Amino acid sequence: MTKFTIITLFREAIEPYLKSSMMYKATEKGLAEFDFVNLRDFGLGPHKSVDDTPYGGGDGMLLRCEPVFNAIESVKAKDPEAKVILPTPVGEIWNQKMAKDFVKDAHYIILCPHYEGYDERILSIVDYKISLGKYVLTGGELPALAIIDSVVRLIPGVLGGEQSAEIESFSDGDNLEFPQYTRPEDFRGMKVPEVLLSGNHGEIKKWRDEHAGKTS
Ligand code: ADE
Repeated sequence: MTKFTIITLFREAIEPYLKSSMMYKATEKGLAEFDFVNLRDFGLGPHKSVDDTPYGGGDGMLLRCEPVFNAIESVKAKDPEAKVILPTPVGEIWNQKMAKDFVKDAHYIILCPHYEGYDERILSIVDYKISLGKYVLTGGELPALAIIDSVVRLIPGVLGGEQSAEIESFSDGDNLEFPQYTRPEDFRGMKVPEVLLSGNHGEIKKWRDEHAGKTS
């Protein structure tokens, strides 16, 4: 079972996706589990504050240490083995091989930062800093979903056709998918390559190998 506990202020931004399609099926089949922790519950003072201004000045607010450490420790108290993922634009760029490596019997805590950043000391309880790419998003919710989706769909038994996750783009390194077609055979004069209609599996495999990475 691969479990994800998501620490966020915006559960409503994440939950509908996890209750849809493959992610929902994965939970129904008992192959994945999703849980939420509301960071606000660990906020400080009457306003349950989770952020503050930076020492040394500057714009914006930073996620404070206390709410984050307390939230993570509340999860680790029940499962000390859980690993902490921090989505951040300065992390290691996520790829298919990393997604595969995360498919195991494990519990991941994903901390979704918001606001302009986080206190640097938060990194001391983080196991993986992960970036989705060299651009800046408003918070960790979208990266959390991308990470979860790309891992959960690789768990054996989640995808319908067991081969789909294996065949498709990037699954064995940087290999690219071959072009694919479904009905009709002729759409507005654009025809499906003859060989794919031939039923000759050897020829089809050869064509697919030759055309790998040549999708438009
Ligand atoms: N948080 C903000 N931008 C991000 C990115 N590109 N990847 C991961 N986390 C982020």
